[in-house]
Amino acid sequence: MNNDKMKNIVALCKRRGIIYPGSEIYGGMANTWDYGPYGVLLKDNVKQAWWEDMVMKRSDIVGLDSGILMNPRVWEASGHTQEFADPLVECRKCHQRFKQNGLKKCPECGGELTKPKQFNLMFKTNVGPVADDKNITYLRPETAQGIFVNFKNVLDSTRVKLPFGIAQIGKAFRNEITPGNFTFRTLEFEQFEIEYFVKDAASADKSFADWAKTRFDWYINLGIDKKNLALRKHSKDELAHYAKAVTDIEYKFPFGMGELEGIANRGTFDLKQHEKHSGQKLRYTDDKDKDVMPHIIEPSGGVDRAVLAFLVDAYDEDEAGKEKRVVLRLHPRLAPIKAAILPLVKKAPLVKQAKDIYEELKDKFFVEYDEVGTVGRRYRRQDEVGTPFCITVDFENLEKGQVTVRRRDSMKQDLVKIDRIEEFLKDKLQ
Ligand code: GAP
Repeated sequence: MNNDKMKNIVALCKRRGIIYPGSEIYGGMANTWDYGPYGVLLKDNVKQAWWEDMVMKRSDIVGLDSGILMNPRVWEASGHTQEFADPLVECRKCHQRFKQNGLKKCPECGGELTKPKQFNLMFKTNVGPVADDKNITYLRPETAQGIFVNFKNVLDSTRVKLPFGIAQIGKAFRNEITPGNFTFRTLEFEQFEIEYFVKDAASADKSFADWAKTRFDWYINLGIDKKNLALRKHSKDELAHYAKAVTDIEYKFPFGMGELEGIANRGTFDLKQHEKHSGQKLRYTDDKDKDVMPHIIEPSGGVDRAVLAFLVDAYDEDEAGKEKRVVLRLHPRLAPIKAAILPLVKKAPLVKQAKDIYEELKDKFFVEYDEVGTVGRRYRRQDEVGTPFCITVDFENLEKGQVTVRRRDSMKQDLVKIDRIEEFLKDKLQ
C-alpha cells in the first residue's frame, strides 16, 4: 500500500509536470531530478513561505546569498576536507563503491571487495584551464559555511545585535552513494539554513529548544499532519563533527521515517575554526565593548525534502461523483496554481467572460485558463495539481454578474460576484 502510494506520487509528478527524472532522454542519471512547470512553482512557494516566515516577518534575521564555489581553505577550516566522508567498500574488478552493509562480494559483478575506506562526499572541481592539485576546489556540501565566512561582513555592514540570525537558501552538492528514494537523497539539492548567533552556552541551550519548536510548527502550519512528524535527538556517537547536540525533525514517508531538517547546537566550533584558519577576528563587540565569541544554533533543512513531504502529505484519493479522483490537498500558500478559470462550455459569451477574469487575475496570482474537455475533467486536472479554487462561468450566473467558485477539498461551490473575485482569493489564499 505504502509502496503503491510512493509509486503513484512519482507517476503523478511525471505525468503532470511536477518532477521529472534527470537527463531522461539519455537514459537518466541516478539520484538527479528536474522540477517541471508545476514543480518549480511548488518549490518556489516552499522557499517563499520559509523566507517570509523566517526572514521577512522577523526583525532578528537577515538574508544572504553566498557562492557555491569558495576558497578551498574554507573546507579545511570547517573540517569537511577531513571529516565529511562515508566508509565505503570498492569492487576490485568493476570499481563500483558501496556501503558495506554486510556485503561479501560485489553486488554488481561478484568481484572481490576492498576493506572499507573513507570516501569524501564533496564534489571536486578545478578552477582555471589546467586541472592540477593546486587549483582544486569543491562544490559546497552545505550553505552554512557561506554564512560563517560572511559573519564579519554582516556585522560590519548592518546593525544586527545578538541574538540574531543569518538565513540562506541555496544549492548544495554531495556525492551520495546511498540510493535516493525519489528526491529524498540526491546529488544536488537545495537547503534552507539559518545560523542563529547567541551570546553564550546557556542562551544556546534555550535557543536550541526554541528553534526545534519553531521549525516543527512551521511544517504543521503549512499543512503537514502532526501525527506524521517526529523530533529525534541524536545519540552522542551519531553527532556530526561540529555539533554538541542535534535534534532532527523527521517525517513519516511511505518508505520510512526520514529527516527533513536538523537543528544543531554548533557551539563556537565554526567561528573559532575560521578565526584560526583565516587569522581574522570573528567576534561580536557587546554594549560594554567586550569581545564575544557567539554560540551558534543552526536549523538546517532540505527544500527538496520539504517539497516531497508536502507532496506525500497532500496526496489523497477519494471519489467525485462516482469517479475516483486524485487530489493534492496542498496548503493554499504552497499550491502551484491558485485558481483555474473555466467557461462551463466553450460558448462565446462564457469564453469571453472567463478570459476577462483570467486577464484581470493573472498579474496578481498564478492562475490558469482552461476550456478543453468537460468541466468535470477540467476539475479533476486541477485537483491533481492541488489548485484550491476553480472559478466557473455559466450562463445563468453570468446574467447575475457572478461565478461559481468550487473548492478543491470539499468540492462545495460558492457564488461570488465577478467584481469580488480578487478579494475572495486574497482572503482565502493566506
Ligand atoms: N549545515 C548542516 C547540514 O548541512 P545536514 O543534516 O547534513 O546538515 C541538512 O543537511 C539538510 O539538508 C537535511 O536535513 C536534508 O533535509 C538536506 N539534505 C542533506 N543531504 C541531502 C541530499 N543528499 N539530498 C537531499 N537533501 C539533503
